[in-house]
Amino acid sequence: MPASADIPRHIAIIMDGNGRWAAERGLPRREGHRAGAESVREISDACIELGVEYLTLYAFSSENWNRPAHEVRALMELLDRFLVEKAKDLRKKNIRLLAIGQIERLPEKTRKLLTSIIAETANHSALTLVLALSYGAREEITAAARSLAADAAAGKIQAADIDAQLFASRLDTAGMPDPDLLVRTSGEMRISNFLLWQISYAEIVIVKKFWPDFRRNDLLQAVREYEQRHRRFGAL
Ligand code: IPE
Ligand code: IPE
Ligand code: MG
Repeated sequence: MPASADIPRHIAIIMDGNGRWAAERGLPRREGHRAGAESVREISDACIELGVEYLTLYAFSSENWNRPAHEVRALMELLDRFLVEKAKDLRKKNIRLLAIGQIERLPEKTRKLLTSIIAETANHSALTLVLALSYGAREEITAAARSLAADAAAGKIQAADIDAQLFASRLDTAGMPDPDLLVRTSGEMRISNFLLWQISYAEIVIVKKFWPDFRRNDLLQAVREYEQRHRRFGAL
């Protein structure tokens, strides 16, 4: 599929169903997360092929800290491994890496890996891959409100200066276009605290497959479905 005006500039994905994928096979949940990392590679390649500019992946939510400690540990270890292995690939494929979320809550090793790869790939331009890590939209929005309130208290801005544009500039996604297409795998019809502000006008595609089974053709199909939609933005 060649890049066209109908291709979403920004695709955001709630990568759900790793645990159920593993359970169906009688495997530990960790194996589902490992298989899910393969889907990430394939989907980011497909986004480059399509000419998508931004791909945001919900990899770990603020609420996922409430999972059993062994699962959180396994997820952080997989993330470390993914970052180490992915670094070469990002260089080769000219992908820029960014992260949104409360990165300061991640283990130090993970944080260091992440910040060094983000710095190293800052000038890459084929695709921006945004990892949502320890991310929660309510936390992001309250942090933005807090920063604006602090500026107002310090006299740097007036309350009346706060509009949607200024507010958006205080979110983790400042400078990024809003997602055009939001995909959730595993069939759940919910947002789970993901990008609440940014998805105001995103087209939503829910896919039944579990994330480790979501591959290139599934993404192409979701984009095809997006292309059939008539986006109205409240107008006619
Ligand atoms: C998505 O798969 C990955 C993360 C949330 C980290 P899940 O781990 O949520 O898998 P299910 O939804 O329990 O099957
Ligand atoms: C959303 O999936 C978070 C990620 C994909 C990282 P969850 O599995 O955590 O969401 P719920 O619990 O089904 O709402
Ligand atoms: Mg889940």
